[in-house]
Amino acid sequence: MAAAAAVPGPGGLRVGCIGAGKMARGVLGGLIQSGKVPVQNITVSAPSDHNLQHFRDRGCNTTHSNISVLYQCDVILLATKPHVIPQVLVEVTSAVTADHVIVSMAAGVSLHTLEKLVPSGARLLRMCPNLPCVIQEGSVVFSRGSCAGQEEADMLRDLLSECGVCEEVPEPYIDIHTGISGSGVAYVYLFAEALVDGAVKMGMPSAVATRIAAQTLLGAGKMILETGEHPAKLRSDVCTPGGTTIHALHELEKGGLRATVINAVEAATTRARELDKR
Ligand SMILES: NC(=O)c1ccc[n+]([C@@H]2O[C@H](COP(=O)([O-])OP(=O)(O)OC[C@H]3O[C@@H](n4cnc5c(N)ncnc54)[C@H](OP(=O)(O)O)[C@@H]3O)[C@@H](O)[C@H]2O)c1
Repeated sequence: MAAAAAVPGPGGLRVGCIGAGKMARGVLGGLIQSGKVPVQNITVSAPSDHNLQHFRDRGCNTTHSNISVLYQCDVILLATKPHVIPQVLVEVTSAVTADHVIVSMAAGVSLHTLEKLVPSGARLLRMCPNLPCVIQEGSVVFSRGSCAGQEEADMLRDLLSECGVCEEVPEPYIDIHTGISGSGVAYVYLFAEALVDGAVKMGMPSAVATRIAAQTLLGAGKMILETGEHPAKLRSDVCTPGGTTIHALHELEKGGLRATVINAVEAATTRARELDKR
């Protein structure tokens, strides 16, 4: 491969995405919203039309040919299901040049595996988003492959700036991000569902309870981020001696909530690590 040119500024970048499903919508949605890359510089590929139409409606280019995304774009996001990644990379490998920056968002596909599937010297990064990227409130972590430097990391952080919170981390943390955040979204929905059920049991209509539960989760999360306090400190601040909250927390402790959540994060992280080793 020829030596890579410098990464162009975001406005001049052409961004491609192989795969057009939920995560492609989330990540490209944030990018489109930011206006950092004009929609006519974005190309998305998928085998069928049913997800591509969403991107056509927003003015992006669409194609059924994965390799043409490589010909047309500088930054290539890989957004297919993990088991499809090897097939896609084999299909496009002849078009990969040193000017491309390839970013995989597939869960459980390590940089080591990805690097074996592209020509040596290719600039690769691996990222892990979560579902709220769809509303630009996501959590994204990423790691660099052996040929990606500070310039590529800065470019990716800039491209993802409207997706939510974005951090570069050592690659082993990506599986922990899956355990706490990728899968964590589902734990929070389960908790929200239980809050609503509790309120319904006590006589509140479900629709009112759902809005209140969601706002409670949103507000609590924002307070952690905005105060920078440890959650234990914020929790203790809500506990009036002999009051309602400490009585409720005692019930949660008796039910093993804290240990169960720790076990859940461990189980999801362990599963992600197993998938990484396949
Ligand atoms: N969802 C999450 O919360 C989450 C979190 C972290 C990471 N991820 C990762 O994000 C990736 C995408 O997940 P998703 O939830 O967005 O999946 P998805 O909604 O099922 O979308 C998959 C997309 O891949 C396309 N596709 C299938 N075979 C292809 C091929 N040979 N060439 C090109 N495109 C192909 C599909 O095409 P059609 O449109 O024709 O069906 C579809 O557009 C996965 O690797 C997942 O591990 C997801």
